[in-house]
Amino acid sequence: MNILTIGDVVGDIGTEAVCEKLSAIKEKYQIDFCVVNGENACSANGISRKKAEILLSAGADVITLGNHTFRQKDAVSLLMHNKNIVRPINYPPETAGRGYCVIEKNGVRYGVLNALGRIYADPVDCPFRTLEAAIRKMEADIIIVDFHADATSEKRSMGFYLDGKVSIVFGTHTHVQTSDLQVLPHGTGYITDIGMSGPHHSCLGVDKDIVIDRLVRCMPKRFEFSDSPARIDGAVFTVDEKTGKCTGGEFFSVLPGADI
Ligand SMILES: [Fe+2]
Ligand SMILES: [Fe+2]
Repeated sequence: MNILTIGDVVGDIGTEAVCEKLSAIKEKYQIDFCVVNGENACSANGISRKKAEILLSAGADVITLGNHTFRQKDAVSLLMHNKNIVRPINYPPETAGRGYCVIEKNGVRYGVLNALGRIYADPVDCPFRTLEAAIRKMEADIIIVDFHADATSEKRSMGFYLDGKVSIVFGTHTHVQTSDLQVLPHGTGYITDIGMSGPHHSCLGVDKDIVIDRLVRCMPKRFEFSDSPARIDGAVFTVDEKTGKCTGGEFFSVLPGADI
């Protein structure tokens, strides 16, 4: 079976592009299950109920999040009431929402977890120990981990740490796709970062001139998303449903105006 992962959806432009193209991407790769990272779906980052509903009706089976989880005011009620939306599992136990979900689709139980890295990031619980404990208890046929982290070393370490314990570890957060998709020695499909679904000519989704201004002139300026047409980045993993092992995969980008 084929599992699709779509990189951080950025703003209205990224959301519209995903809505327009997701079904064709799913058709092309014969997708059975789709995970979309939606942590930047709103214009001030985060996700709202409206954006979540749009992405779910566009064809996402589960939405994962990241460090921008609680930016929107309705995020708490959204996370409390929708089992298809997963926030980082290594927040404190009292934090609203859930760090994993198990969704049954066509007789297969898909477990999806989301965790934050700790290098160059706000302090959270240990993602390695927290994920491992949750995975040990999880009753699922296929387990998919979105590791939302900055440092490539931490992300690759997580891939090897979970190798053989889960079907897929894919990275998000940097918004820049890496070319290291591989099947690890014990059968886990891995990529350091699947990239971004948002404005193509931008700095990680943000208007490039604003970012350049901040870096060159060191003047404070509010970040705003670019209005450049969107690219879509993602990766597809093929998983043997009997063993839960990944047998291969590929990463892809759909650039503005390009055919799928
Ligand atoms: Fe992001
Ligand atoms: Fe992030």
